[in-house]
Amino acid sequence: MKGIVLAGGTGSRLYPLTRVTNKHLLPVGRYPMIYHPLVRLRRAGITEVAIVTSPEHMGDVVNLLGSGRRLGVDLTYRVQDEPGGIAQAMALCEAFTGGKSFAVVLGDNILGSDITAEAEAFRDQESGARVLLKEVHDPERYGVPRFENERIAEVIEKPSHPPSSFSVTGIYFYDQQAFDFIRELTPSARGEYEISDVNNRYARLGQLTHGILDGFWGDAGTFDGWDEANVLARDVQYPELDERAH
Ligand code: DAU
Repeated sequence: MKGIVLAGGTGSRLYPLTRVTNKHLLPVGRYPMIYHPLVRLRRAGITEVAIVTSPEHMGDVVNLLGSGRRLGVDLTYRVQDEPGGIAQAMALCEAFTGGKSFAVVLGDNILGSDITAEAEAFRDQESGARVLLKEVHDPERYGVPRFENERIAEVIEKPSHPPSSFSVTGIYFYDQQAFDFIRELTPSARGEYEISDVNNRYARLGQLTHGILDGFWGDAGTFDGWDEANVLARDVQYPELDERAH
């Protein structure tokens, strides 16, 4: 299975920290933010990874990661000309996925546990999509699932009245239908092609499964989230990364 890490967007919620730097290059614990999703993919055996970022920051991202050799991954880069949303960024990787199912991780998501079992669970699924959930104290900040008979009936993006206390985290598994669904999307009120709209297409077809993430999870895309992620990842170390090679 191939992987995609999305590292575009404006980082506007972290201004002025992100005025000249890409959000995903800011430190979280001992590493640049983007190391965390990359290591999680690699540990799940997903080593062919495409990174999507903006034209302004592509140079810095490539300077940091290069071919990916030091992190044990084989990297491909795609440019997102304008920050038109997560689904739009994902669509840029259609050819890269080579007609097969794939994993997507948002570049600002920090996770404390292994996702190998989740990747396996998705591999066992014949078609459709799988999302990972985490119980949170502030669901209104995220995409939130509404359950019917223990399945996700709908995902509501940043609801003022959350239908559950779970966040749909930024770790997703999709089959190729995702790209057809994206072609049929229209931008949301905030002008973006929303990943929750893609997930809702699968939910309506009864093809959206979910798992619950063990361990900590954080979205480092806001000051509060970045702060929390730094506390959570404070002592996280990836011994397999050769410190001398950094
Ligand atoms: O972190 C989980 C949440 O991420 C989910 O619960 C939401 O359903 C999902 O919409 C998303 O919400 P955010 O508002 O946090 O998304 P944000 O705009 O911060 O984008 C998340 C990552 O996606 C960001 O680190 C970079 C990437 N991205 C985003 C946009 C808008 C792109 O690569 N291109 C883009 O155009």
